[in-house]
Amino acid sequence: MSTRVAILISGGGSNMVALARSMTGDHPARPVLVLSNRPDAGGLDKARALDIPTDFVDHRPFGQDRASFDDALQARLAEAAPDLICCAGFMRILTAGFVETWTGRMLNIHPSLLPKYRGLNTHARALAAGDAEHGCTVHLVTPELDDGPILGQARVPVQDRDTAETLAARVLEMEHRLYPAVLRRFVDGETAPLCLP
Ligand code: GRF
Repeated sequence: MSTRVAILISGGGSNMVALARSMTGDHPARPVLVLSNRPDAGGLDKARALDIPTDFVDHRPFGQDRASFDDALQARLAEAAPDLICCAGFMRILTAGFVETWTGRMLNIHPSLLPKYRGLNTHARALAAGDAEHGCTVHLVTPELDDGPILGQARVPVQDRDTAETLAARVLEMEHRLYPAVLRRFVDGETAPLCLP
């Protein structure tokens, strides 16, 4: 039986598309739900075009009540009965209670070489620091933001003329390679960190 994967998104969903496209043929996993916290996330249309069930739980009516939002997310996930969750550009901070429900079964991609630059604006921060290389990380989700055991990293050289936008675009290309590669290994039981390129 295939490993059932739910993908959480907030935006354009390019990482979701890369993951979904990888889960075909002899891949041991299949996408069973793409779930967004934004009804207008561009990734929802892309998932529908790939024939993946979609839904959203709009975070806005919940205001500051993160626990109730996470309960609603959990209820929708339970219907899809995933074995694993992949956060792919999912821009909500999850409560410890939710994260603990999925310990060891929830992955995230972050656009920096963790432990550097947790949080937002990672590309601008790498440039401001004068870093020679930047990149992205796939890790298991733990209650601390952008923390948790690292499952894979991809390095991207910083170029003299890079702006945050040009650097972000090259990192995103690597995200699309790294995340499917790590997911495949993870489903096969491999948790030793993968290093790309
Ligand atoms: C990616 O860079 C991801 O790492 C970050 O947000 C971006 C989302 O892109 N957290 P997409 O929605 O997968 O296109």
